[in-house]
Amino acid sequence: MRLSTKLLKWYDRHRRDLPWRAPPGVRPDPYRVWLSEIMLQQTTVPTVVPYFQAFLARWPTVANLAAADLDDVLAAWAGLGYYARARNLHECARTVAAAGGRFPETESELRALPGIGPYTAGAIAAIAFGVPVAAVDGNAERVITRFYGIEAPLPDAKARVRDLNQELVPGNRPGDFVQALMDLGATVCTPGRPACDRCPWGADCAARRKGIAGDLPRKAPRPDRPLRHATAFWAADADGRVLLRRRPPSGLLGGMTEVPSTPWTDRPWTVAAARGHAPLRARWKRVPGVVTHGFTHFRIEFHLLRARVARPPESLRSEAFWCPLSELDRQALPTLMRKLVRHALERSRGA
Ligand code: ADE
Repeated sequence: MRLSTKLLKWYDRHRRDLPWRAPPGVRPDPYRVWLSEIMLQQTTVPTVVPYFQAFLARWPTVANLAAADLDDVLAAWAGLGYYARARNLHECARTVAAAGGRFPETESELRALPGIGPYTAGAIAAIAFGVPVAAVDGNAERVITRFYGIEAPLPDAKARVRDLNQELVPGNRPGDFVQALMDLGATVCTPGRPACDRCPWGADCAARRKGIAGDLPRKAPRPDRPLRHATAFWAADADGRVLLRRRPPSGLLGGMTEVPSTPWTDRPWTVAAARGHAPLRARWKRVPGVVTHGFTHFRIEFHLLRARVARPPESLRSEAFWCPLSELDRQALPTLMRKLVRHALERSRGA
């Protein structure tokens, strides 16, 4: 039996029931496929499911999403990370809606849309339109690397893994094949201890034969991420409002809401130096503890100063605004900022 046939048989029995998938034999809605694939870039399936459902309930079609306010999209995306994805998502929706509301069907046309790279173009083409192309995510990469016993480390072996994957994609049910590989990687051919006895390809797997399945794929060591530092300012007024700030539209966390802070630097801030960057004059006091967060290329450690502001100043810089505590949930606060808010609220209680 062909490898693809074995895998599809396995998929028919063990596929995960995910909200963006159509029932067996039915072509899924390209909008759902696109939305899920953008959300799943860099994020796990359990994290994405509630976001996917909330987006779909609020914006059921690509035209609805195109007509939405970018601020609302960013606020709904808050917590999913990599916020450039949300901006590209919105821009892509507008491009597709402007062209009549139908997604293009080929890999190359899909790639020309904002936020769609090689993996996502392959996944959408295969899943939504039945094009026989591979979509090599981390799961597929692991399965293929093990099956062929490739010991060269990733990312050097990437191109080879992709070619081997492409050769396996069948003309029949390519979308199911692509998703079967993802499910196999997520549930059987897992990173730590793969369940080779449950694998439909186990009998022919080179890594299993050599006893090294759990050791593959080998990865080139990643350099340590540098640690950066900042001090944030938690200003609360007598009406239960806190001072927030809108970040510039592009760059890291572009367009998202933040707790005002010093610049992010390579060296820690002394309280005295940090005070020079305070968004308003007040008696700033140190809040005990630190908040840390990891980005792709660096980690950051935040200290926090807080102040009670009896009479908020009339004028603030244009990007700053007062937000009632009860409305924090509606803000586009990224995860790092939610951590800071939680820390400030926990440590300031009764203070
Ligand atoms: N990861 C990325 N795309 C996926 C999909 N369509 N199904 C399951 N996991 C995925």
